Amino acid sequence: MQSLQEKASEWSGVSTVEAFGIDEGNINLCQKLGTEAFLNLSKNFYNRVYEDDEEWFRSIFANSEKQKAIENQYEFLVQRMGGPTLYSQRRGHPALIARHRPFPMTHQAAQRWLHHMEQALHTTPDFDHHSKTTLINFFRHTAYFLVAGVAHKDQNLHLLTCHNKDHPPINHHPCKN
Ligand code: HEM
Repeated sequence: MQSLQEKASEWSGVSTVEAFGIDEGNINLCQKLGTEAFLNLSKNFYNRVYEDDEEWFRSIFANSEKQKAIENQYEFLVQRMGGPTLYSQRRGHPALIARHRPFPMTHQAAQRWLHHMEQALHTTPDFDHHSKTTLINFFRHTAYFLVAGVAHKDQNLHLLTCHNKDHPPINHHPCKN
C-alpha cells in the first residue's frame, strides 16, 4: 500500500526530498526572511480566501474568524520554517491531519488553496525567487499529504465502526458514510 508521502508526491508532482527543501541551507527561512514576511504572507493569503469568488471554497472557512486563521497560519509557518515555536506554545502539537478532518479535503480544495497561496507568494514583496520556489514545493506536497491523510483516517474510522464482517480490503471498500 502506498504511504501518505508517496501519495502526496504522486498527486502534487513534488518529491518528498523537494518538499523538505525548506530545511536546507545554512540559515533557515525564518532567519533569512524574518517573521514579518510570514505575517504578510498569511494576511495576503487569507484576504484572497475570504474574498474568493468561488463560494464552495470560501464556505469551507465560514466557521473560522479571519484574524484567528491568519494568526494560526502565521505562527505555524514561523515555527515550521525554523523560527520561535509560537504555534505550539499556544495551540500544542500542530497535528495538521487531525485539525483538517472537519473540512472537505478534496483534490479540488487543495488546488484552490494552492492557487491562493501561490498568488499570495507572488504578490508579497518579502520573498525572493528561490524562497518562493522552495515554499511552493513545500505547500504543494503538504496540501496533498493532508488530502491523503484525512481520507486515510476517515477510511480507518469507517472500518472500525463498520459491522460488515465481509468488507473488502481497505483500498477497495465500497461503503460510503
Ligand atoms: C487551518 C483548510 C491546507 C495549515 C485550516 C482551516 C481550514 C483549512 C478551513 C481553519 C482555519 C482556522 O481556524 O485556522 C485547508 C484546506 C487546505 C488546507 C481546504 C487544502 C488542502 C493547508 C496546508 C497547510 C495548512 C497545505 C500547511 C502547510 C493550516 C494550519 C491551520 C489550518 C496551521 C491552523 C490549525 C489550527 O490551529 O486549528 N485549514 N487547509 N493548511 N491550516 Fe489548512
